[in-house]
Amino acid sequence: MNIPNDPFLGTYYIGKEELKAVKQVIKSKSLFRYHGPQLLYKTNELEERLAKYLGVKYVLACCNGSAALKLACIGCGIGPGDEVLMSPFTFIASASSVLSCGAVPKFVDIDKSMNIDVNKIEENISPSTKAIMAIHMQGQPCNMKEIKRIAKKHSLLVIEDAAQAFGSKFENKFSGTIGDVGAFSLQAGKTITCGEGGFIATNNKKIYMAAKMYHDNGGYRIGDDYPTWENGNTFFGENYKLTELQSAVALEQLKKVDKIINKQEYSYSQIINGLKFNKFNIRTIDENCQSVKTSVCFNFNTKKECTNFINWMKERGVPFNHYCSNLINEFDTFKKKNSWHKSHFPYELSEYTEIDCSISHDIFNKTAWFNLSASLKSKHLKYINVILKEFENE
Ligand SMILES: Cc1ncc(COP(=O)(O)O)c(C=O)c1O
Repeated sequence: MNIPNDPFLGTYYIGKEELKAVKQVIKSKSLFRYHGPQLLYKTNELEERLAKYLGVKYVLACCNGSAALKLACIGCGIGPGDEVLMSPFTFIASASSVLSCGAVPKFVDIDKSMNIDVNKIEENISPSTKAIMAIHMQGQPCNMKEIKRIAKKHSLLVIEDAAQAFGSKFENKFSGTIGDVGAFSLQAGKTITCGEGGFIATNNKKIYMAAKMYHDNGGYRIGDDYPTWENGNTFFGENYKLTELQSAVALEQLKKVDKIINKQEYSYSQIINGLKFNKFNIRTIDENCQSVKTSVCFNFNTKKECTNFINWMKERGVPFNHYCSNLINEFDTFKKKNSWHKSHFPYELSEYTEIDCSISHDIFNKTAWFNLSASLKSKHLKYINVILKEFENE
């Protein structure tokens, strides 16, 4: 049986609703969010609906999740000399956003939750530490209670990288709304998508305003109509705006979010239904969390056992694998302090400290992942479950 293994979660749900919405924008000839002949204000609407869904005061849409992370850092005033604590198990954008502000990440080991080990945060705080980035990997929230407690004790900001976790909750609050600011992605593989896109969510007006100006070339825009780009404490920024076309798609996707999350939950429960967990453990899900199921993750006692399992499953057509990328602290970006610029920006401004992340390395090598494709059907789920049981009983 050919088991789907694509990571295109929101993409799977693109249908006639998105098509209709895009046509509407094309017909309006108003693709730019701030002005046009018959502007439909899709981006404004998207921001309002996301804010309502998440229960926050401010949402700012932007061109991708990486930009959202940078805007979150900008909003928090992160800059040269600063350090942001984060786990190395993430996509490189979590750290690039920090580097591009002139600051550096400091990598803290993960634990069995596969997110940052909250017990190792405090020992890594230095006078340069400005923020903790809580990265909710593969839809599973970090221990936000503990992260917030530590941040408060040491007067640190909390940035949430919720790129992979839109719709997940910690203690009944949405991931990305618990710290000072959350960054989300609308890229093709995320819970909801418009191909490329992102947004930040915050209750802090200062963070929102700084991010809003930065994402609009540091300008000061009064209202939404043209021409409104005035001088009012302007500073330099970049253009990270989202187009009306993308917003139209994202709005339709947002209407489908519960359906998407429920289907993922169903697939996950069917796959693990009745397993004994006698040969591997399943990634621990904190009882305070409602994760969004984007993958199935099993931890083994040894790397060999993990590799044998992956091969065994593959031989039977079930594509379990090691994680699709390496831990990012092992990238040349940090090991060799590589930069596009001969000054080695930002390493000449901020001191990068290499931390021992051997636990992350160890766990990483002993972990097998299966992408929970949105196109998995009942027959696939049953088959995977049967094969897993066979493995356990072998
Ligand atoms: C954890 C994490 N952070 C940030 C990003 C960046 O999002 P984008 O691809 O929309 O720039 C991603 C994207 O995969 C991600 O997985």
